[in-house]
Amino acid sequence: MSEKLRIGLAGLGTVGATVAARLLSGAVPRAELVAVSARDENKDRGVDLSGVSFVSDPSDLATQEDVDVVVELIGGEGGAALDLVERSLDANKPVVTANKAMLAAHADALSKLSVGGAVPLAFEAAVAGGIPIIKALREGLAGNDINRICGILNGTCNYILSRMEAAGLSFDDALKEAQEKGFAEADPTLDISGVDAAQKLAILSALAYGVAPDLDNVSVSGIEAVTAADIAFADEFDSVIRLVAMAVRSGNGVYHSVEPVLVKKSEPLAQVVNELNAVSISAAPLGDIMLQGPGAGGGATASAVLADIADIAAGFGRPLFDKAVSEMTESASENAPASEFYIRLALADKPGSMAKATQILAENGVSIEEVVQRSSEAGDSYLPVVFITHRIENQLLRSALIALEQQTEICNAVLALPVFAQDV
Ligand code: HSE
Repeated sequence: MSEKLRIGLAGLGTVGATVAARLLSGAVPRAELVAVSARDENKDRGVDLSGVSFVSDPSDLATQEDVDVVVELIGGEGGAALDLVERSLDANKPVVTANKAMLAAHADALSKLSVGGAVPLAFEAAVAGGIPIIKALREGLAGNDINRICGILNGTCNYILSRMEAAGLSFDDALKEAQEKGFAEADPTLDISGVDAAQKLAILSALAYGVAPDLDNVSVSGIEAVTAADIAFADEFDSVIRLVAMAVRSGNGVYHSVEPVLVKKSEPLAQVVNELNAVSISAAPLGDIMLQGPGAGGGATASAVLADIADIAAGFGRPLFDKAVSEMTESASENAPASEFYIRLALADKPGSMAKATQILAENGVSIEEVVQRSSEAGDSYLPVVFITHRIENQLLRSALIALEQQTEICNAVLALPVFAQDV
């Protein structure tokens, strides 16, 4: 091995080009970029790669003798990315990746190939972009019991929600801006549907609780159903809407959810705007901490990739998920914590509609704390109405929603969002 770690980099998108530029400028003194692989060799990426060899098949980086460490920034759950990572680990070559989809889906197999960290597989960039949350959980919080992880883990969704709120942008225009800034996935439905945040949550949960990452055990709703009217209603309740990912101890298991949540403006999570991510952790004996920073985009993600390269250069290697798999393997998907809820309905503009809606809520044990109704515009046959409930069990809410949705002549387009609470 030469004095410097020789890096082979696969994937030259927004993140890859930034990593390449930083390595070439000597940002990690003990590492040098020697080879790159991308779909198009000649595309202008604003970085001079003339002194670096180009490899057309990324999987060749796994066996190339002059490459000591492979950086996988191709993305995608399987395909070329997984092939490269498996081959590299198999060839005893450390890997750095930002690929949460691959880690969430193939953690067990990759963990075996990493041989308990003897062949490091580093993934700081897979969760929350530039926030060093993997390091924080593994190192800074190593002696704690984690009671709750709660975070904003998708920069694209946060950008959309906060731009709709601050600049009155439409959903589509805000998404377009997020894509132009390089925050969104190649397929932005992974962002919007909450799947990207769920993959990240599954990884954090594996580190924090010693449960294997399991996407099937995460209750996921995206932001597709959130409208400009919801954002305006939230404002009337002195709140904003955020896509919140949560993993909380519940009984003998961990309850995982990703969903839009109503957050009071006074809460720190409400102040996380644009592409920023935040992760708040309740731990014992520590107490509560929150880390916040840029969660998406070339610079943020490259920062985490470079940190992993520096760690490998310094000789660090850790098992993929180092906590022993604990007792907490019970599925807790049914154990959603009790919450207050924001319920938005459209009521037919005729006598008795409101009475019917409140009757259904009452019959299902849902007690109302606040209600806001909008006046109709000429020609509207439905009026938007929002209820904030008292704290209720999730099961009661589900029954009430089913009953409301059956009253098609008086209610449609029902949306229910939990109200964020610190004590869950
Ligand atoms: N598409 C992701 C996001 C990028 O918007 O957060 C980082 O994983």
